[in-house]
Amino acid sequence: MERSLVLIKPDGVQRGLMGDIIRRLEQRGLKLVAAKFLLVPRELAEKHYAIHKGKAFYNDLLDRITSAPVLALVWEGAQVVSSIRQTVGSTNPANAEPGTIRHDLGLSTEYNLVHASDSPENGEFEVALWFSPADLVSWKRDTDRWIYP
Ligand code: CMP
Repeated sequence: MERSLVLIKPDGVQRGLMGDIIRRLEQRGLKLVAAKFLLVPRELAEKHYAIHKGKAFYNDLLDRITSAPVLALVWEGAQVVSSIRQTVGSTNPANAEPGTIRHDLGLSTEYNLVHASDSPENGEFEVALWFSPADLVSWKRDTDRWIYP
């Protein structure tokens, strides 16, 4: 089963948007299997954003993600990675479609509220980076039969 890591980043937490962001993902029909509210250790931030190392914005990126708490979430389901990317919207909120989280709630790339895994492979990698296997709750959701054929 495909999994995606979603981080509600410090700007989303500070602005009190956690509930709204979770509501949008839940209403889409996505299934939550893990959640953790934490101050991100610099070392974890470096591993998570390793792909951006060397870029001009890398240090600022680390400073921002470690500046206040983050809510880390794992969602599970068929095609969950692409479905979440669609609901989240483009990296730059100015290019995000109306109705997406980044369009509706944000205005800048730096404070774009959420991170979401960009491929099923990265989903697996990021879930393993942020959570241990025991953190992932295996549960049967009774509404699944009204969401998936
Ligand atoms: P996120 O999905 O968390 O992954 C990396 C983050 O870097 C991205 O969201 C943006 O917040 C940020 N980012 C991406 N590109 C730029 C850029 N050109 N300048 C500043 N920040 C960026």
